[in-house]
Amino acid sequence: MTSTNVEEMDNEATELRALAGLRVVVTGGTSGLGLALVRALRASGAEVAFVARTRERVIAVAEETGAIGIVADVADKDDIHRIALQVGASVGASGAIDLLVNNASSLGPVPLRPLGDTDCEDLEAALAANLLGPFRLTKALLGPLAAAARESAPSVVLNVSSDAATSAYAEWGAYGASKAALAHLSAIWSLELAGERVRVLSLDPGDMDTPLHELALPGSDRASLKRPVDAARALLRAVIAARGEVRS
Ligand SMILES: NC(=O)c1ccc[n+]([C@@H]2O[C@H](COP(=O)([O-])OP(=O)(O)OC[C@H]3O[C@@H](n4cnc5c(N)ncnc54)[C@H](OP(=O)(O)O)[C@@H]3O)[C@@H](O)[C@H]2O)c1
Repeated sequence: MTSTNVEEMDNEATELRALAGLRVVVTGGTSGLGLALVRALRASGAEVAFVARTRERVIAVAEETGAIGIVADVADKDDIHRIALQVGASVGASGAIDLLVNNASSLGPVPLRPLGDTDCEDLEAALAANLLGPFRLTKALLGPLAAAARESAPSVVLNVSSDAATSAYAEWGAYGASKAALAHLSAIWSLELAGERVRVLSLDPGDMDTPLHELALPGSDRASLKRPVDAARALLRAVIAARGEVRS
């Protein structure tokens, strides 16, 4: 490791120290970007609860990071109340949540296909995971988010977006439409929640080397893709800036 790398790591550690003690919920915390977020947040001293569907992975990540693992499906309406209850019994026990990251996402039908070949049920499933899930979970946690914002710095909802939210790519219809709707929802939440000091961000992490990317575009040149850990740090710097603790 070069001295520059060591300095960079020191700077990053110092920068992310502003996250120490924050009470955080991350969906999709067992793989790719979500896992990198859980690791970085825990390393910074944040209290973290994360959600994913596969029980074994949830247990493994909880053991590795010391975060609270919640086995649930954000696309399932009946799971949202249970997630909110488990959050309220763990990282949100004080009645406050500083950061919610809506990261879990569905690609829609795979292999990707034109809209004409997309079943209505597949579009519904993508909207359930990528739009309705984040909407329901944000609504369920609005009270704790507003409570945290009253304590000190603003709280943040980070909705993980994609360039497919703003550019129309053939065969990305279900995913792109759901991400575009999520971005617009975020902009409206952002206006409506400004008075409560709850900041709502919609951010594209860029193309990353993750299982989701491999599923969408099998055989891509992995070396050309971002590492999830780098994308996670960039998003967390944006969260810190939104809380006003670091002026960017
Ligand atoms: N990878 C890219 O190049 C790229 C580019 C732009 C934007 N993004 C966005 O970045 C975010 C993370 O993507 P990624 O590439 O890191 O994905 P990933 O590696 O496939 O990880 C997805 C995570 O979400 C969980 N998950 C999926 N569906 C869920 C559901 N319905 N309920 C609860 N958990 C669920 C998965 O665990 P289980 O399957 O066990 O539930 C896993 O922990 C997504 O919002 C994606 O749209 C990715």
